[in-house]
Amino acid sequence: MSRFIANNFSEYLDLYQESVERPEEFWSQFASSEFLWKRPWDSVLEHDLSEPSVSWFKGAQLNITENCIDRHLEHNGEKTAIIFEPNDQNDEPLHITYAELAIQVNKTANMLKSLGANKGDRICLYMPMVPELAFAVLACARIGAIHSVVFAGFSSKSLSDRINDASCKFVLTADGGYRGAKITPLKNIADDAIKQCPCVEKVLVLKRTNSEIQWTSGRDFWWHETIEQQSEHCPAETMDAEDHLFILYTSGSTGQPKGMVHTCGGYMVYTNFSFRNVFQYKANDVYWCTADIGWITGHSYIVYGPLSAGATTLMFEGVPSYPDMGRFWQVVERHKVNILYTAPTAIRALAQCDLSFVTNADISSLRILGTVGEPINKEAWEWYDDHVGTNNCPIVDTWWQTETGGIMISPLAGITPTIPTFATHPLPGIQPCLMDENGTEVSSIEGEGRLCIKFPWPSIARTIYGNHKRFKDTYFSAFPGHYFTGDGAKRDAKGNYRITGRVDDVVIVSGHNLGTAEIENIIDEHEAVTEAAVVGYPHPIKGNSIYAFVTINAGQVDMDRTTLESEIKKLVSDTLGPISKPEKIQFCSGLPKTRSGKIMRRILRKVAAGELDSFGDISTLLNPECVEEIVQNRL
Ligand code: PRX
Repeated sequence: MSRFIANNFSEYLDLYQESVERPEEFWSQFASSEFLWKRPWDSVLEHDLSEPSVSWFKGAQLNITENCIDRHLEHNGEKTAIIFEPNDQNDEPLHITYAELAIQVNKTANMLKSLGANKGDRICLYMPMVPELAFAVLACARIGAIHSVVFAGFSSKSLSDRINDASCKFVLTADGGYRGAKITPLKNIADDAIKQCPCVEKVLVLKRTNSEIQWTSGRDFWWHETIEQQSEHCPAETMDAEDHLFILYTSGSTGQPKGMVHTCGGYMVYTNFSFRNVFQYKANDVYWCTADIGWITGHSYIVYGPLSAGATTLMFEGVPSYPDMGRFWQVVERHKVNILYTAPTAIRALAQCDLSFVTNADISSLRILGTVGEPINKEAWEWYDDHVGTNNCPIVDTWWQTETGGIMISPLAGITPTIPTFATHPLPGIQPCLMDENGTEVSSIEGEGRLCIKFPWPSIARTIYGNHKRFKDTYFSAFPGHYFTGDGAKRDAKGNYRITGRVDDVVIVSGHNLGTAEIENIIDEHEAVTEAAVVGYPHPIKGNSIYAFVTINAGQVDMDRTTLESEIKKLVSDTLGPISKPEKIQFCSGLPKTRSGKIMRRILRKVAAGELDSFGDISTLLNPECVEEIVQNRL
């Protein structure tokens, strides 16, 4: 039992106070008592948020995989580390013990080395949700290579942008990936992407779907052939605490996605700490996070957090709707899942279905429920509570971001009193605050504003890969000395936080962050389009949908609108992936602009949402007449 894992609310309050009053002692004691380090640190924390520069456990050396695997072998080698539930429920699930995980990760690490991978190399993983993805993530960490996992739903353009941004030398992919009844041709998509990526030297291909693929000899290698002869032993590379562990891309409010960089020591410490505190994991629990490893939730709470805590973590290859909408509950019954961590968009979709999907399965093993990725509405929260938790399972509404590395504001399961739609209290070590329009901190307990964090925590992203200036501009300039989250929040009289949503040009659709600028840039590429403005509007299941306002070139105003609409949708879908496709496209003769030429998206957001009664002050508009037309033709 660790004194750093709260058992009740008063212990939480004590830990919180200690973490704020003496952060360095707090984290230093937790880190030294809970992990294997090859060398201790010289300083716990050095920081200057104006730069920003942050380093935790400077001078310390470690390898995160020794903490996620090796140290469990002596007492828990036979414990299941990963349960793999395949896409097809008629296929046998796998139970991979910590001992087997060690063998697989070491062999994979040696396979990467045999292809020439070294410490510091960037390796792109574009793979389905199969155990080999987890092995590969850990194998990279074992040899000190920096993994960049790209979600296997992304298009070839999104993939090539990410490969090039990090100049990845290696790409790991599969012949195909199962997703419900469909197969995604991952290798073909990767081939297309790599045509634009001169940095890629070698491609490793996992055989999963037996799909027909193209082969480039000398560059492409079969996984099963290359791994066969590899040794089961691979020494763990010695890493400095501040060495890069991985890059993970997230959409920004402008242009290119941002490669968030996380480092070895602080990330390990905080994902372990937050996993154990929030989910109150007990030794024999089966824990299931339904995210994909292509997102931060999968990195932190399928792989690193649970494995560093010696937990049993379930990986699901499929989708909630296959073979039918009862699949989640079948998986819970089959593996006697105790802790379920999913997203509001999934909960809303499941809540639309006949309740018999839930009641036909025995889900009585569930003890704790979690949610993440976007604000959860009251109806969805209550449905989750009533029908999945049978009013008996605490719900942890966990607020955090790719940039934060780990859960920041959340109830601790069974400990913090919950309120529907509230993420409640910050975790120990996290110092949130609200800023008003003038950049002044809201001093009253009850209040509303832009959510910022005042003090560094161990898993804060250190930079945007290759673009520190953008990192500073995006997160540390709006409120100097603070990390700005991009979210708005309210705080009640007891200090509970409720996240109200993004205050920038990022729209969350089915839990996926989409940068509106990125979609606009693609629509603008269509030869008939002059300009596009993209906003989000509320959608009952997906949370938000995309609404595009588009103006057409003078020479092409006669083009058939239905054809144009489907061409634009296809262009976006092919370039960025289907998730980014606008649900609605409205053609207009002009977009509302300020005198300085900026599109006034505030008006378009209101039109898209159907809030037509007041647009606020539009006196600064250059072309107010277009607003009326836009309202009249609203879809
Ligand atoms: O707007 C917040 C929303 O998701 C954003 C972060 O997205 P991403 O980096 O993809 O990470 C998602 C998984 C951690 C946040 O800025 N968000 C995430 N969790 C919540 C949330 N909004 C409200 N409540 C949450 N629990």
